[in-house]
Amino acid sequence: MDRRVKGLSRLRASEGLRSLVRETRVGVDDLIAPLFVHHEAGWRQAIGSMPGQYQLGVEEAAEQARQWQELGLRAVLLFGLPAMKDAEGSASWDDEGGVIQRALRAIREAAPELVCITDVCFCEYTDHGHCGVLTERGGKRVLDHAATRANLAKQALSHAQAGADMVAPSGMIDGQVSVIRAALDEAGQCGVGIMAYSAKYASGFYGPFREAAEGAPQFGDRRSYQMDPANGAEAMREVSVDVEEGADIVMVKPAMAYMDVIYRVKQAYGLPTAAYNVSGEYAMVKAAAQAGWLDERTTVLEMLTGFKRAGADMIITYHAADAARWLRQ
Ligand code: PBG
Repeated sequence: MDRRVKGLSRLRASEGLRSLVRETRVGVDDLIAPLFVHHEAGWRQAIGSMPGQYQLGVEEAAEQARQWQELGLRAVLLFGLPAMKDAEGSASWDDEGGVIQRALRAIREAAPELVCITDVCFCEYTDHGHCGVLTERGGKRVLDHAATRANLAKQALSHAQAGADMVAPSGMIDGQVSVIRAALDEAGQCGVGIMAYSAKYASGFYGPFREAAEGAPQFGDRRSYQMDPANGAEAMREVSVDVEEGADIVMVKPAMAYMDVIYRVKQAYGLPTAAYNVSGEYAMVKAAAQAGWLDERTTVLEMLTGFKRAGADMIITYHAADAARWLRQ
């Protein structure tokens, strides 16, 4: 016998052995399901670029949330499709009629255990599709971070007052976490947390989402405020700023092409860390599965496990409901 051979395969011989030595586990309670809420009553529209995902009216969304709660899911991330868009995105802080505010009240009722996180941004609410207020600089229309911050505070507070457990600012606006934290605290909403889209990259993988949320920029792109995909050290600075400003959870987005960033963030800060498995990542797997090119269940669970192995504590994913079903079996 060759004593130099060090065999590692003996621990892989059966499912029992494999499960004993398994280092990473994905559970339903690691998953956060995005939900697109449309302002129109009775609305239910399939999103072509994201098979299996829908835009839903407020009541339909509440019913979806109820079913997801029953399935064991713990949290949803809400995106709103408002009735009206303007230059500022003012429909996003409409306490009574706002689509997210109404959805929060309905979901609270239908699925009281579910953690409701709201995406806080303006791209779905502005007529120009950018993530805040615009101003002119050097003959160009650019994002006005200062003016946008004031509006972010209004939107986040309105969500909190309508029942959000956490708000998730996604616009990569400088100072977004601190201005929201201050607004919440001053209004007595100290218990509402902030999940910060800290390291959000200007990514091609958001393509399908722009159809889902009807928030594509009408001119230009988002590279002057979202991060350059080439930068890892800069992600650490973004996270450190958000931590200082009071983020409770930090996020890396997208997930698949940014596993090193997830790893570094978790290692360096040890904070609750979320990975956003975005629309394009979902669409790729769905399309390949529909073509019969890969096995959807195996691939999705492998991907989710990979995010957790890299350091994510929680995963925002459109696969959440499917994964919840598979994980229950
Ligand atoms: C809004 C927002 C976007 C996503 C989440 N929040 C779009 C963007 O920044 O262009 C992308 C989500 C996805 O692709 O699944 N700012």
